[in-house]
Amino acid sequence: MLNINPTKTHSWKSLLNHFNNIKDKKIIDFFREDINRFSNFSYFFNENILIDFSKNILNNKTIKLFLNLLKEINFNNYLLSMFNGKILNITENKFVLNFLLRDINNFFIKNKYIKSNLLNEKIIIDKNLNKIKILTKNILEGKWLSFNKKKIINIVNIGIGGSDLGPRMIIKSLNLYKKNKNINFFFVSNIDIDDIYSVLNNISPENTLFIVCSKTFSTQETILNFKISYNWILNYFNNNISCLNNHFILITSNYENANIFGLNNNNILIVSDWVGGRFSFCSAFGLSISLYIGFKNFKKLLLGAHYIDKHFFFSNLNKNIPVILAIVSIWYNNFFKFNNELVIVYNEKLSLLPLYLQQLFMESNGKNIDRNGNIINNYNTSSIIWGGLGTNCQHSFFQLLHQGTYIIPCDFIIECSFDNKNNLYNSYYKLLSNLISQSQCLAFGDNILLNKNNIKNNNLNIKFNKFFGNRPNNVFLIKKINPYNIGSLIALYEYKVFVQGIIWNICSFDQLGVELGKKVSNLIYPLIKDKNFNYCSNNSDIFLDNSTFNLIKVFKEFNNKK
Ligand code: F6P
Repeated sequence: MLNINPTKTHSWKSLLNHFNNIKDKKIIDFFREDINRFSNFSYFFNENILIDFSKNILNNKTIKLFLNLLKEINFNNYLLSMFNGKILNITENKFVLNFLLRDINNFFIKNKYIKSNLLNEKIIIDKNLNKIKILTKNILEGKWLSFNKKKIINIVNIGIGGSDLGPRMIIKSLNLYKKNKNINFFFVSNIDIDDIYSVLNNISPENTLFIVCSKTFSTQETILNFKISYNWILNYFNNNISCLNNHFILITSNYENANIFGLNNNNILIVSDWVGGRFSFCSAFGLSISLYIGFKNFKKLLLGAHYIDKHFFFSNLNKNIPVILAIVSIWYNNFFKFNNELVIVYNEKLSLLPLYLQQLFMESNGKNIDRNGNIINNYNTSSIIWGGLGTNCQHSFFQLLHQGTYIIPCDFIIECSFDNKNNLYNSYYKLLSNLISQSQCLAFGDNILLNKNNIKNNNLNIKFNKFFGNRPNNVFLIKKINPYNIGSLIALYEYKVFVQGIIWNICSFDQLGVELGKKVSNLIYPLIKDKNFNYCSNNSDIFLDNSTFNLIKVFKEFNNKK
């Protein structure tokens, strides 16, 4: 693999020249020059998802030059390496085989894309899938009983980051697919015990099952919440340790850490250690999803992602949707220097998608060391990803998007089919018209109203009523939010991350940046607990800067004066 600094390539230089020629062009001019701009700059995936990227400051040449860049860095080699099961997560010496998790018909196996030494991985995946199937059946059909023989009506998923956000977001997106209406689902992640007690205070141990998800089974937040729920169950059943197997399923890559709590092996699902948390929704970490939507629908979710795996692997790069999305994003980030990216979803049920994508992108590509171990000092990596729910955000931060001094490219996402009950007073049509008009206004500014004499400008504020437009955005129209399309949507974004990481020459599959904070918090914790903290500050063996020392001191003073 070449692992080269992209800015040192010939293609990057050509892109810079091209950028200087095109940067002042208006999006509206691209439309004036090309009456087929939409069909030339949009893609359908499986007739289910439309991605319109026509409202961007780019043309065919931009795409062509980026494709030259991919050639120059030998992108195809990385792609093949992933699908052949070479170690791509070089900092952790692990495979990147996300596609294998959803290869439910053994397509990649049968066609021999996978080396035989990896067949064992597929066996582990299939075993887990079978366990998910059985658990889902037993729990949903009321065959899995609590210790005192009650049906399970509460499922609490404990986990954080990738062990929480995927199931949490997908379940919310697929609320119409809930299989057993009598089972309530809860998610607990925060170490602030208000989180877990807000759940425990409203349910009973005798009909509750906890799904504890932690890849490492050492994450502070998850272990604390697990211990609280563990004791909550034990207390209720008079410390009879046999009750645990009726109330806990643990999912992890660290069997040793999970095995010390006295649960049967059948209650511990082991996921291979190459499955990264934020890429884990198709693995056993997706158990809560299957319990919510049923196993058949869970398989559809995997199938939707699998079709994107095939699309990514087999499509020409100029028609490869994740590649195009990555190119558009890098074009703004590294050339225009727009370093934020927004995800605005218009359906309530998608409201957690921005949070999910925030982890996916920022934990994967928020890196400042390249694949050769060199510090990156002449280009940016991951954009700052954030977002929210349209139309709500239109009434909060959209002012800045339209008239602020920063330009923030957006992805607008909406479902196109609706239940009649969601169209009361034509509300659904209003929702869609909001999305389309926001996309238009950002791209074209007040040019849109030039020929609309019936919409008058308030003369008093004419100077302030300027909308320059030229604010790029992509629109995703999803035919229906169903398991299949959600699987596809997430996989599209997963591969956007992958392509960006290769171009930026970083390792997208580790998250070493979160480790320092964990270590330091373990050093601060005993100081916060220490009643004599004031007296030991001078001879403490860890460095306490003046701010840290005083923050702890004031915390203790406040705390004592409760
Ligand atoms: O601290 C970051 C992180 O490691 C994420 O990458 C991960 O998704 C989350 O914490 C939870 O980790 P675990 O599944 O090991 O509890």
